[in-house]
Amino acid sequence: MPESDKKSKMAALNEKMAQLDSCCHLGKVRTNLVPGEGDPEAKVMFVGEGPGQKEDELGRPFVGQAGQLLGQLLSEIGMSREKVYIANVLKCRPPNNRDPLPEEVEACWPWLRRQIEIIDPVLIVLLGRFATERFLPGQKISAVRGKVLRRNIPDLGVKVFMPTYHPAAALYHRDWINPLREDFRKISRILELLASPENQNDLSNLSSEWDSLEIGPKKQHEQGRLL
Ligand code: URA
Repeated sequence: MPESDKKSKMAALNEKMAQLDSCCHLGKVRTNLVPGEGDPEAKVMFVGEGPGQKEDELGRPFVGQAGQLLGQLLSEIGMSREKVYIANVLKCRPPNNRDPLPEEVEACWPWLRRQIEIIDPVLIVLLGRFATERFLPGQKISAVRGKVLRRNIPDLGVKVFMPTYHPAAALYHRDWINPLREDFRKISRILELLASPENQNDLSNLSSEWDSLEIGPKKQHEQGRLL
């Protein structure tokens, strides 16, 4: 899709989201919709859980403490919020920051799916367990963090993911910050490897370079759920 197309399609999607009063009951209790932001042309997209208090106040994703850490991790790898795309599984804040309910994740899915369709990112970084569960159901974050996994997502197609800890969780469990940082440090190299045609259909090539990229066809077959 040409650049201007992605920008105009994202603008139209945001407009549609804003016009819709609510797609589940969270729309009635939120202050502001938090659609997501960044560059619709980005190669990497980050998907978090859902807006917190600050995000709900400002209508922007990751603008609280977790957002500061996300910004810092991005700048450490030479990226910025403006050059990537940042979205959430939920576009409206659950009251008192409670966990998203399965029906809320389901109600919000068409928006996230359309965002991914428009951006068509090379890599989707899943921040935390709710984003990981949405795309890689049944996979434990502690087992899959930092790995590159490819999966055929119903209604969306084959996508490449790297799950990692949620920045807010890492602020709570301080010993997760370094593993989170290590995962971020892999991003540029993963994008580089995925850009080479021979790796696009056979991610097993990646595992020769990265210990943690255990996603050869054999492994995927064994795991059953992964492509
Ligand atoms: N946590 C999230 O998952 N998303 C945000 O936008 C902010 C905090």
